[in-house]
Amino acid sequence: LDRQVPQNIWEKSNFINYKKMAENLDIVRARLNRPLNYAEKILYSHLDDPHGQDIERGVSYLKLRPDRVACQDATAQMAIMQFMSAGMPSVANPATVHCDHLIEAQVGGPKDLARAIGINKEVYDFLASACAKYNIGFWKPGSGIIHQIILENYAFPGGLLIGTDSHTPNAGGLGMCTIGVGGADAVDVMAGLPWELKAPKVIGVNLTGKMSGWTSPKDIILKVAGILTVKGPGTETFSCTGMATICNMGAEIGATTSLFPFNDRMYDYLAVTKRKNIGDFARVYGNGLRADEGAEYDQVIEIDLSTLEPHINGPFTPDLATPISKFSEAVKANNWPEEVKVGLIGSCTNSSYEDMTRAAHIARDAMDHGIKAKAIFTVTPGSEQIRATISRDGQLETFEEFGGMVLANACGPCIGQWDRTDVPKGTPNSIVSSYNRNFTGRNDGNPATHAFVTSPDMVVAMTIAGSLHFNPLTDKLKDKDGNEFMLTPPAETNGLPLLGYDPGEDTYQAPPEDRASVQVQVSPTSERLQVLSPFNPWNGKDATDLPILIKCQGKTTTDHISMAGPWLKYRGHLDNISNNMLIGATNAENGEANKVKNQITGEYGGVPDVARDYKAKGVQWVVIGDWNYGEGSSREHAALEPRHLGGLAIITRSFARIHETNLKKQGMLPLTFVDPADYDKINPSDRVDVMSTELAVGKPLTLRVHPKDGAAFDIPLAHTFNESQIDWFKNGSALNTMAKNAQK
Ligand code: F3S
Repeated sequence: LDRQVPQNIWEKSNFINYKKMAENLDIVRARLNRPLNYAEKILYSHLDDPHGQDIERGVSYLKLRPDRVACQDATAQMAIMQFMSAGMPSVANPATVHCDHLIEAQVGGPKDLARAIGINKEVYDFLASACAKYNIGFWKPGSGIIHQIILENYAFPGGLLIGTDSHTPNAGGLGMCTIGVGGADAVDVMAGLPWELKAPKVIGVNLTGKMSGWTSPKDIILKVAGILTVKGPGTETFSCTGMATICNMGAEIGATTSLFPFNDRMYDYLAVTKRKNIGDFARVYGNGLRADEGAEYDQVIEIDLSTLEPHINGPFTPDLATPISKFSEAVKANNWPEEVKVGLIGSCTNSSYEDMTRAAHIARDAMDHGIKAKAIFTVTPGSEQIRATISRDGQLETFEEFGGMVLANACGPCIGQWDRTDVPKGTPNSIVSSYNRNFTGRNDGNPATHAFVTSPDMVVAMTIAGSLHFNPLTDKLKDKDGNEFMLTPPAETNGLPLLGYDPGEDTYQAPPEDRASVQVQVSPTSERLQVLSPFNPWNGKDATDLPILIKCQGKTTTDHISMAGPWLKYRGHLDNISNNMLIGATNAENGEANKVKNQITGEYGGVPDVARDYKAKGVQWVVIGDWNYGEGSSREHAALEPRHLGGLAIITRSFARIHETNLKKQGMLPLTFVDPADYDKINPSDRVDVMSTELAVGKPLTLRVHPKDGAAFDIPLAHTFNESQIDWFKNGSALNTMAKNAQK
């Protein structure tokens, strides 16, 4: 285990540390004294403190040291802006950025890409220059989808990676533990802070039997509800990329991650992607890369692959699963629009060489009978490498001959980047994709579109028939002369290209040798990007006579605190996006959203406007919140915005934990009423003193309330700050603390 094996072919000095992982595991094993499953082994081998860490699945918060971090271009903007504000010369852990989310599908790959490069130039220039400056690998627009690039280049068995995208678990297909997170977590790992994760419960899925015919790995995940770890003899029967498809879609059923133990199919994939040395090294560490005999799971699911049917999931939700044999009935019973308007294959979920080969086989079969796609058909290659390889090997030509449009190597319609023109908005219609998500409006912004997700095989079959009623296992089609025929099921392959992969165009930008002279490019007049300055440290005094910006009533999610939709274009510009701060929250005073009283002028205004007025007058403010304040996605903007607009404390009945931590990271005080009933004692027009000098681990802190009329009274507030988090508050933020420590 002493060898120096690089994590990938791009970075010469980042090595796989199986030795350290084995040592950590030994320490934990001696403490727990029980067999461990594979998910546990990876997590525990990456513990920051294997000796002292509390370990109870579903209860403890693990402090972990991931091997890598990856960001897509939409989430990378604010993550990097924050990292920059810490003033560190380079990232503390290996990191990559992937340009895949901002390319709109319109007329086909090359033109769409050129158009996106024009529209998003300032974002791409910023990311490219910041990556060069801070030692981050940069994958240019056109390189492919983050999860595919990670599988092809960065994933390795037993590793731990976090990525700022929900489908990051895709790399579980290569035995890596990969977890989707928010930008704040990515910043922690870039800055070298340990990363925190609640020790997950683990579900074992035991696969037996063998798949055949029209059934594909996608059907396993379309069927399973709740999967974290997959094992069993069945796992040897499908390819590494097939396992990746399963792990990718585990995100739809709420799994933290999904992963397969290391096996020979992964070795083959590593070898064909120029990483045979990693495969050999993984074989040496083999014991660490599978579950121990007798390992415990919180739940076990059994699936017999021999009896598994193709499934079609949707519409409007990925967990409404219907086996193909029952699907036609379901279409009738629910009155779903029968005609398939568009079939879409590819995306991060299903764009492997194997997927493309099987799909091309079915398309070719139809063309051999003189028929082509009846519906519109699009193909999204997952990476430039996939595109170049299927271009060389003929699948791409088959798709074009079949009537397909090949889109850019990017997310495209999967994330709603689709300028769809065949159906007017509002018209009910059906589309079938091999993607992973199908929430209302996700693909084309049309709430009446019924989007179904299934395997690429079924997408192509239904595209040929043009109907949701078609079942290729039982139904016949008519050839060009009107004779009936059945499609042949896709031929089995080992999933890998015989001639190896063709890398295609060079779309990677490595960090340069001389990074000191690189200038990060951000135009001072940009509306989409803004360089962040570090937040001011605490002034060391109690804060007195603060107005209450808003007393929120009822649900206040991160979406109420920092809305998405049109605001997303400002996610790299803190000042602009702050104009959405708390505009969705309900004001307890009047039951209205975005209408609060300015306690200095007496006028009503929008929440961000009033906050800006206080800030301009040098007045800090607080927010009063209800139960579970900040639940929802872990959006870091929801914590950055109140800090940016001059807030000091958020005082609630309770917090969603991730938001509470995010507020601490930004140097805010998340506080809770010791007695939740005290929430009712506060009037939106009261002034408050926050006795911040009392802040100490495990001790309450006083809130002195000054009602408009009447005597002042004290309310005790609780908090969950530990020693190092108190430093975050004192220094102004977690990043300021990192920067300070780095200077020492
Ligand atoms: Fe996500 Fe689809 Fe892209 S699932 S990474 S948006 S291809």
